[in-house]
Amino acid sequence: MRAIWYSDQGPATDVLTLGESDEPAPGPGEVAVLVKASGVNPSDVKQRAGLRGPMSVARQIPHSDGAGVIKAVGEGVDPARIGERVWLFNAAFKRAHGTCAEVCVLPSEFAARLPDDTRFEEGACLGVPAITAHRALFCNGPISGKTVLVTGGAGAVGLLAIQLAKWAGAHQVITTVSSPEKAEAVIAAGADEVINYRRQDVAEAVDAVTEGEGVDHIVEVELGGNLKESIAILRQGGVIATYGSEAERTPELPLYDLLFKNIQLVTIFVYLLKVEQRVDAVHDINRALREGALRPVIHDVFDLADAPLAHECVEAGNKVGAVLVRI
Ligand SMILES: NC(=O)c1ccc[n+]([C@@H]2O[C@H](COP(=O)([O-])OP(=O)(O)OC[C@H]3O[C@@H](n4cnc5c(N)ncnc54)[C@H](OP(=O)(O)O)[C@@H]3O)[C@@H](O)[C@H]2O)c1
Repeated sequence: MRAIWYSDQGPATDVLTLGESDEPAPGPGEVAVLVKASGVNPSDVKQRAGLRGPMSVARQIPHSDGAGVIKAVGEGVDPARIGERVWLFNAAFKRAHGTCAEVCVLPSEFAARLPDDTRFEEGACLGVPAITAHRALFCNGPISGKTVLVTGGAGAVGLLAIQLAKWAGAHQVITTVSSPEKAEAVIAAGADEVINYRRQDVAEAVDAVTEGEGVDHIVEVELGGNLKESIAILRQGGVIATYGSEAERTPELPLYDLLFKNIQLVTIFVYLLKVEQRVDAVHDINRALREGALRPVIHDVFDLADAPLAHECVEAGNKVGAVLVRI
């Protein structure tokens, strides 16, 4: 089969190799999937660059997310799954066979049924971003009637978080962006209020759009950089659910400011969710897709041979939505 792989970490154009590789066979509990599209996430790119520790396997086919059709099943998996359209997640997390290949083998539970009306390219946008968005929104129970702030709303996670928050009945979804183009994208995703965090004072702007009430729940892409404002705008008992803090990787915690408002700080690492959290996420994501409420945004699609360009596009950091590789 044709595949992209790397055996050393480094710059994308140096280490990503396109070639013929042996097709893997599914082991017990696994499925083999004919991949149609592969999703490129920041974590795939950081892992390849060597920014997330050493390689866990000698030769890595990258990318955890994707979509395709099950072509074979291993022992213990219902053969009725053969032919099923699926979206994939966790494929490359501590595993050699990611989705950037014609065939990907992974545990059956990491291949979720893709709704009939959802295209493969849309399915490949889901894994990491949609499950992270779901967990960040629902980590403290339902958000119906709540006021939610999604920081970095035009990111892959942010756009899906806005859509899921609206779908789940949030009272008001506020989001932050850095440019007019990103503002357009979040409005299309359903945001009620948009704040340009580079030009506006976020705390003042939130105060204005919530008429001084503040927010109940924050889906946070940059914990350290935004923490001061987050504490200021959260109501008592509010939640910060964070999945990143790239600008300030070791943020200082003003504990008593958090404590005196009973603020809950929840951290999320999507690859290691509990089984029931993952099952809940897949269930809700598929329902939202079927109801037309979740519409993944695709920034760009690259050919397999151009996988290094797809990595560079994610690395550049100014995308709106998902970057995919067409298999
Ligand atoms: N913990 C986990 O399990 C998990 C899961 C998914 C993603 N992540 C991490 O989360 C980050 C985002 O992932 P992604 O796929 O959504 O990336 P993405 O598509 O590149 O989006 C990131 C967004 O964050 C915005 N942003 C950056 N700093 C911000 C700030 N201080 N305030 C508000 N917005 C800000 C960026 O916009 P501007 O640059 O225009 O501001 C961009 O729109 C990555 O570092 C990724 O590795 C972690």
